[in-house]
Amino acid sequence: MNDNNQKDKEGLSRRQFLTYALGGTGAFMAAAITMPMIPFTVDPLRRVGAGNFVEAAKVSDFEVGVPKKVEFTVHKKDGWVESDVKLSAWVLKKQDGTFLAMSPICTHLGCQVNGGKEGDYFFHCPCHDSFFTKDGVPKPGVPATRPLDTYAIDENALKEGKLALGAISQRKA
Ligand code: FES
Repeated sequence: MNDNNQKDKEGLSRRQFLTYALGGTGAFMAAAITMPMIPFTVDPLRRVGAGNFVEAAKVSDFEVGVPKKVEFTVHKKDGWVESDVKLSAWVLKKQDGTFLAMSPICTHLGCQVNGGKEGDYFFHCPCHDSFFTKDGVPKPGVPATRPLDTYAIDENALKEGKLALGAISQRKA
C-alpha cells in the first residue's frame, strides 16, 4: 500500500515535470520564433541595412511650408521570408530649409490622418476628429494628445539632394 502510494506520487511528479518541461520548451520556441518579428512589425525601417535609411523622394520635390505626402517601399527580410512593405510620410519643408517627415498614423488610436485641410489645422483624423497643425501638433482638446511621430532623416543624403527616411520616433506632447 505504501509502495503504491509512493509510486503514484513519483508518477505524478514525473508527469508534472514532463508537462512543465514540454510547456516551457514550447513557449521558449514560440518566443524565439516570434520575438525577432516584433521590431519589424512596429517599425520596418529598423531592419533596413546601410544606415537604416531608405530614399523616399528628392529634396526638390517640396515647397516651403506645404506638407506633401510621399510613399516609399521598404524591402523586408525575416529569415527566409522576404516582402516589400509600403510606407508613407507627410514631409514638411520648413522656412530654414530643414525637413520634418511625419508618420501618417494618428497618435490617438492609430487611424490614418488626412492632409490638405484649410486653416490652422492641416491634418484631420476622421476616426475621432483629431486635428493637427502642419508640424503635426494636435489641436488642444482633441483626443490625440501627442504630435505625429517623425521619421529620422539622413542628413548626408539631404546634401546630395535626396530625402532618405529612417526609424520612426515619438515626439513628446
Ligand atoms: S484615432 Fe485619430 S482621433 Fe482617434
